[in-house]
Amino acid sequence: MYLIETENNVGFLTASYIKNRVKSFVSTKNKPYFVLALPTGGTAIDLYKYLVKFCQEGLSFDKVVTFNLDEYAGLPENHPESYHSFMAKNLFDHIKISKEQINILNGNASNLETECKNYEEKIKNYGGIDLFIGGIGQNGHIAFNEPGSAFDSKTHVADLTSNTIAANARFFDGDISQVPTRALTMGLGTIMTAKEVIIMATGAKKSHALYHAFEDKQNTNWPITVLQKHPRTFIVADKAAAAEISKTTKQNCGLCSFIN
Ligand code: F6R
Repeated sequence: MYLIETENNVGFLTASYIKNRVKSFVSTKNKPYFVLALPTGGTAIDLYKYLVKFCQEGLSFDKVVTFNLDEYAGLPENHPESYHSFMAKNLFDHIKISKEQINILNGNASNLETECKNYEEKIKNYGGIDLFIGGIGQNGHIAFNEPGSAFDSKTHVADLTSNTIAANARFFDGDISQVPTRALTMGLGTIMTAKEVIIMATGAKKSHALYHAFEDKQNTNWPITVLQKHPRTFIVADKAAAAEISKTTKQNCGLCSFIN
């Protein structure tokens, strides 16, 4: 797991990394598409701003398929706070990409378990995730894998913790009772199969989770620690988010190797 500490360029650096990977991807018969896993949330807004800009400047998503990490269960797809709506508003409405290239879990499927199983299968059929982009919760969650989630879990239905519900209430007029309590999410095991992982973290609220990511031993109370054993994970953090990480860890980080 590598730390990439930056002044305030988390979204830009991550978008630049995606751009480089998409541009250098060579489509073949066996692997026609670059598989990109994408998050929602406040941290991702800046990332998409830059990605839209890069696409407007000529970056092509013709050979990209996207899989969103998660979606609320039971929230209508056209609800302004559904992850379907978030992705349309922040990315897909502004770039050239067909519906067939976009995959988002259906939180209103008649059988949620089957929906999760099919999603996992679809990822596999595309040859697995090439690049996973995520954020991190204050409690160390990635996607909606809350503390206690099994490290080998696949796409599944998850109960949200009160901590996450409270954090997400800001998107629902600050009203906790409006926040869905369940979600469909890729599992930690799904994430571990990705060839590369980028986790974006901004602001002091994330500093404790990043402390555990780098300084704690692997444990399911801090889901982020699963990535300690992933061979190519980059945590891209601003100064505030990286504040609790030790000097020794920081000395081992390098920006140049990340961008190239
Ligand atoms: C969203 C997701 C979540 C968020 C995390 C951070 O698709 O998977 O894990 O990445 O909750 O959210 P923000 O960026 O709003 O702090």
